[in-house]
Amino acid sequence: MLYYSIHLTNISKVHRKVGMAHWCTVFIKFNKVAIQVCGIVGVVSGKNISEKLLNGLSNLEYRGYDSVGMCFLNNGQLNIKKGVGRLEEVNKRINFLKFKGNAGLGHCRWSTHGGVTEKNAHPHTDCNNRISVVHNGIIENYSELKDELAKKGHKFSSQTDTEIIAHLIEDNLKGNAEEAVSAALSRVEGSYALGILFADEPELLIGAKNESPLIVGIGNNENFIASDVPSILSYTNKIIYLEDKEMVVLTKNRHKVIGIDRKEKKKKIHAINWSAEAAKKGGYKHFMLKEIYEQPSAIADTLNERLRNGSVSFEKEFRIPGDYLKSINRIIFVACGTSWHAALTGEFMIEELARIPVEVEYASEFRYRHPILDKKTLVIAISQSGETADTIAALKEAKKYGVQTLSICNVMGSSITRISDGVIYTRAGPEIGVASTKAFTTQLAVLYLLTILLSKIRKTLNEKQVRDMINGIRKVPLQLQSVLEEDKEILKCAELYYSKLNSIYLGRGVNFPIALEGALKLKEVSYVHAEGYPAAEMKHGPIALIDKSMPVVFIAPHDVYTYKKVLGNIEEVKARGGIIIAIATEGDKEIPKKADHTIFIPKNLYTLSSMLAIVPLQLLAYHIADKLGRDIDKPRNLAKSVVVE
Ligand code: G6P
Repeated sequence: MLYYSIHLTNISKVHRKVGMAHWCTVFIKFNKVAIQVCGIVGVVSGKNISEKLLNGLSNLEYRGYDSVGMCFLNNGQLNIKKGVGRLEEVNKRINFLKFKGNAGLGHCRWSTHGGVTEKNAHPHTDCNNRISVVHNGIIENYSELKDELAKKGHKFSSQTDTEIIAHLIEDNLKGNAEEAVSAALSRVEGSYALGILFADEPELLIGAKNESPLIVGIGNNENFIASDVPSILSYTNKIIYLEDKEMVVLTKNRHKVIGIDRKEKKKKIHAINWSAEAAKKGGYKHFMLKEIYEQPSAIADTLNERLRNGSVSFEKEFRIPGDYLKSINRIIFVACGTSWHAALTGEFMIEELARIPVEVEYASEFRYRHPILDKKTLVIAISQSGETADTIAALKEAKKYGVQTLSICNVMGSSITRISDGVIYTRAGPEIGVASTKAFTTQLAVLYLLTILLSKIRKTLNEKQVRDMINGIRKVPLQLQSVLEEDKEILKCAELYYSKLNSIYLGRGVNFPIALEGALKLKEVSYVHAEGYPAAEMKHGPIALIDKSMPVVFIAPHDVYTYKKVLGNIEEVKARGGIIIAIATEGDKEIPKKADHTIFIPKNLYTLSSMLAIVPLQLLAYHIADKLGRDIDKPRNLAKSVVVE
C-alpha cells in the first residue's frame, strides 16, 4: 500500500483575522511578509550529508520551486548556500555537493506573497549566524515578535516571518538548545514545520511542527526530518509522524519526541513499505503520464481486501457505525478541484443506487454559508492531499454542528483524516504531478464501494444487483489496461488539434462530472481554454461557439436513458462544422459514423463508465500539453496542495 504526504501552509487564520476596515494595512503587511508554501528536509549523520539533502529536495520540489537553499553544519560553522530558481538551476550555480557537513538542512520555497529573492530564501539565521532555521508555514504574530526583538537589538536581514524564529530562539538561548526552541515556540502563533541547527551543537538537529507536515526518519547512524516520506525513503523506511505542537530532538543515534511544553511523548515507529522508486518517474517522461498509467494498479490496491463475501468492508479507520449509516437522510460532500468532480460523481452513484439525497458543495463556499445541518446529515470531505485549506475549514465548520464526518483521502495521517470521525483511504500511492489523475479514479472507486455499502445497509438493492456491482468494479483494473492501449489514437487527436485555442467537453449523468474533469485537466496542464457542460445544456449557450475550429469532446458511453439524446447533440455539432472526438462503448456502431475520432472504452455498468472514460481525457490533456511544451508536472500558477483560502 502506498500513502503520500503533502506539505502545506495555512494562512486561513490570517485571513479570518483581517477586518475590512484594516484591509489597507494588511495589504501592506502582506507585501512585506513572505508566506511560504514549501518543502523541508534535514539530516544529522555519521557521514557527509550533502547528497542526502540534494536528493531529498529533488523529491520535494513539487511543493515549491521559486528558490532553494541548504545549510551545512561543519566544524562548528553554519555554511548557508541559497539562490533563486529551481533546484537544478541553483545547483548548477552553487554545486551543493561540494559542501561538507555532518548535519544539514534543505528547503525549497513557493512564495504566495512577498518577493522571490535570495535574501528571502531559506535557511535563515539569527544575528550571529549561530542558529539556522528552515520553515514551512506562517507565523501569524510575527509582526509583534519582530518589533519586540528589534527593540532588544536584533537585526533582520530578510522580509520573512521565518527569520523571527531564529532570533527568538537566540533570544531564549541560555545554554540548552532544546529549551530555547520550546521557549521560543511557546511564543509563536501560526503554522510551522521547522528544522533547526545550532553551530554550537554539531551533533543536534531539532524539528517542530504545528499545522504543517513534518515527519521523522530513523536511519542507521543517521536521522532525518522531512515534509514527506518519499523525500527520505532512499535512506530509511522507519517513520515517526509528528503531531501538532510536537518537537523532535535528533542526534545521529538518538531520537526524542517531546511536546512544545517539553513533556516527553511515546511515538510509534511505522515501517513504510513503499519503494523509493514509487516516488520517482520510473522511466516515464512525466509524473503525470506515469500516474495515468498507474491507474489499473491504484484501483486494484484501492479495492484490495475491501470486497469480501458479496459485500464491502472498510478498515477500522472507517469508524462510522452501520446503524448510523442506516439512519442518515442526507449526505453533503465538501471538496475542491478534481476532488469536487469526484464528489459530483458520488452524488450520482449514491442517489441513483443507495437512494440517499446528496448535495455537493465547494468547500470554500460551504463554510461561509451557515449550512443547515442536523444529526442525520453525514458530511464527507474528499481530498487527495488531506491538506487543502478550504476543505479543512469546511470540515471544521461541519463539526461545529455536531454531525458525523467522514473523509476520503490519499494521505495517511494528513490533517483532514485527523479532523474527521472516520476515514476511507484511497490507495493511489504518491501523486506527484500537480494535475490529479490516479487520485481521482481511486476516489471514484472508493465512492462506488461506499455506494455498495450504503445500498446494502439500506437494502435499496437486492443481492443480485449488489453482486453485479461488485463484479463490475472487479473488472475495472483490467479494462483500464485496455483503455490505456487506445493511447495511439489519443495521441493522434493531440497532434491534430493541439493548436486549437478552445474546446468543449460534454457528458450526461455520471459522465457530466467527467466532462468537467476532462476540461479541467486540459486547462491545468496545457493552458488551453476548455469548458465542461451537461450535453443537453449545449443548446442553451455553448452551441453559439461551435465552428470548424472548435473541438468538442463527447463522453457518450451506452446507457438506456440518454445515449440517443447525446447522439442528437453530436449531430448538432457536426451540422455546425465542429470537430468531434467521442468516447464510446466498444461495439458502438453509430458514433464512429458521426465522430471524427472515436476512442473506445470497454462495456461495464453505466456507473463505472465514468472511471473508464476519464482516462482517455487525461491522456488527451497530457499529449496536448506535451506538444505545446508545457511544464506538465508543475503547471504555471498551480500548486499540488492549495493551503491558502
Ligand atoms: C489543487 C490541485 C488540484 C486538486 C485540488 C484539491 O487545486 O492543483 O489538482 O484537485 O487542489 O486538492 P485535494 O488535495 O484537496 O484533493
